[in-house]
Amino acid sequence: MATITIDGITLEVEEKENVLEAALENGIYIPHLCHHPDLPDNGSCRMCIVEVEGMDEVTPSCTLKPRDGMVIHTTTERVNKLRTLALELLLAGHPEDCSTCPKYGNCELQTLIQYIGANNARMRTRTKGIKANEDNPLLIHDMNRCVLCGRCVRACNKLRGVGVLDFRKKDLETYVGTLHDQLLADVDCRFCTACAEVCPTGSIRDKMQLINTDLKREEALVPCKGECPAHTDIP
Ligand code: FES
Repeated sequence: MATITIDGITLEVEEKENVLEAALENGIYIPHLCHHPDLPDNGSCRMCIVEVEGMDEVTPSCTLKPRDGMVIHTTTERVNKLRTLALELLLAGHPEDCSTCPKYGNCELQTLIQYIGANNARMRTRTKGIKANEDNPLLIHDMNRCVLCGRCVRACNKLRGVGVLDFRKKDLETYVGTLHDQLLADVDCRFCTACAEVCPTGSIRDKMQLINTDLKREEALVPCKGECPAHTDIP
């Protein structure tokens, strides 16, 4: 166990968990986006940055292991400024049509925008211009709404062990897709829909609304023990 202080609150936490999880478990909210409790962290979105006394740089709390005596601040002026800038940069490549997005009202990005109070007015915006792929059964991939958090890639690779989704590049644009943009069925996707479940935006969507959003997270997304659809042959 380690004793740490977050925003003046002293906590006893497991050294193996990260500072973000420790904070959330103890009722201290730190904004986050690429973090998902069922997935390994990659520290890519920078929403969860914090300042640690004795460290020069701000650091993502989702990849920060607690050390005894650590003193952490989650809302300093520097942290707030950098977090807002990181979100504005994300929004610069995201469509501004929240009110017509199918994920409206259930979008983690939208919640963050409201919580942090960011907007992209200072940025030159651009849309990626990638046509939404609706040709797959069950799933719609709309890469214009993707913020490259990598949750779907980690869910497909690490949680389900299928590995058909990855970061790809085309015309300098990074996106998530299959090898050579093949249809999911052609690359052995098992349509477990874990990618859609963990997607924080309207980028990967369950076409037929089969995902039961009323399920508690633990019931909806548990680590696979070999019985999930990903490991069951599809006829
Ligand atoms: Fe920590 Fe994205 S939640 S960097």
